Order: sequence, then structure tokens, then C-alpha cells
Amino acid sequence: MIPVITIDGPSGSGKGTLARRLATRLGFHLLDSGAIYRLTALAAAQAGVALDAPEVVTLAQTLDARFAPDGSIYLAGVCVDGVLRTEQTGAMASQIAARPEVRAALFDRQKAFARAPGLVADGRDMGTVVFPEAPAKIFLDASAEIRAERRYKQLIENGFYAKLPALIAEIRERDQRDRSRAVAPLVPAADALVIDSSALPIETVEAQVMDFIHARGLNQVY
Ligand code: DC
Repeated sequence: MIPVITIDGPSGSGKGTLARRLATRLGFHLLDSGAIYRLTALAAAQAGVALDAPEVVTLAQTLDARFAPDGSIYLAGVCVDGVLRTEQTGAMASQIAARPEVRAALFDRQKAFARAPGLVADGRDMGTVVFPEAPAKIFLDASAEIRAERRYKQLIENGFYAKLPALIAEIRERDQRDRSRAVAPLVPAADALVIDSSALPIETVEAQVMDFIHARGLNQVY
């Protein structure tokens, strides 16, 4: 069986950074499942389709997405790295992600990322729904204020305009929607290692996760 390491958590908890570092360290493939929801939302926006319209499901099924080895992401052949990461795209992704039929349409596409020698999968329901059989599951959390500050720095560094109080409010609203939705809500898997990264540098989080991975029996391989 392909070893899968799942990393779930809210936006800004550091899961994307952790997932990238682990994938590089272990030589594993990487699934940024949030990007798949973001791409679907973007495809809907570009096609002028309302986020609650039935057509979003067809767009999800036929999504022309490409994840290049250099980390760039393409939608219908066009690089969308900038627009993909905006708060607006994130909020649209969160809305379509609350629809069970959209989640079902994206399920197999996510499963297909599990290839030898292994996968690090980052998202909201990687350990609970998409890869429940994964031998090592992590749930990374952090306070809304800390996550908003991290996001603020990231946006400013990338040349975007941002206001911290508005970001905190947006993050709270998105958390509320992601945690309370009826299908695949954001919750730690029963067997997940839960880490609050609010006061921890990424190196410490990574070291804790490596210990956990080894303790889960993956030490013979890595
Ligand atoms: O991780 P992110 O911020 O790129 O995710 C964008 C939105 O997509 C997020 O608000 C909720 C949704 N999402 C989801 O429902 N399930 C996932 N596995 C990943 C993301």
C-alpha cells in the first residue's frame, strides 16, 4: 500500500508549508487539495457560473488542472498562481466545498495523487474522508489571530493589499463555515496527532511530526 501522510487544519495553520517540507524531505508526492477547490471556484467564476448552480459539479468533474513540478498551477493551460491564493478565491472555494455533490466530484481526482513512493496530502478532510486508511494523520491548528497575521505577511510580501482586522474576521467566517458544514466538516481524525502551532516555529512542528511518523511504523522506510 502507498504510504500517505495527511495534514489537515484551518487556513493559515501552516499545513501547506509543513506538507511541502515533508514531501521534499521524504521524496513524496504532494496534494494541495485546497488548490483543487480553489481551481473549481475559479473555473466557475471564469465561466460566469453561480457558486450554487448545478453546472459547478460538471466543472469539477471536467476540471483541466495541472500541477507543474516547479509548484506552479495551471487552469485550462493558464498559470493561475496569483489569483488562486487571494482571499476572494479562498472564500469562493469554501462555499463550493460545502456542497456534497462538488466534494464527490473531486474525490477520485484527489485519490489519484497517491502514487509511489508516497504522498503528503494537505487539506480539511484528508485524514477523515479522502485517505482514512493513512497510517499517519496530523491536525495542525493555530489561533485565528496568529493565522491572520501569517496570512497578512504572506499577502503583503506577494504585493497584495490587506488589512489585518478584516483578515481576522474573514478567517473566523471561513472557519465557521468549514467546521460546521454537514459534509466532511473540518475536524481532527480520531487517530490524528493534534498540534497547536500558534507559538511553535515550523522546525519544531516538523520535528514533532517526524517523531510521530516514525512511531507510526514508517521508520523502516524513511
Ligand atoms: O486550504 P485552502 O485555504 O486553499 O482551502 C480553500 C477552501 O477549500 C477552504 O476554505 C475549504 C475548502 N477545502 C475543503 O473543503 N476541503 C479540502 N480538503 C481542502 C479545502
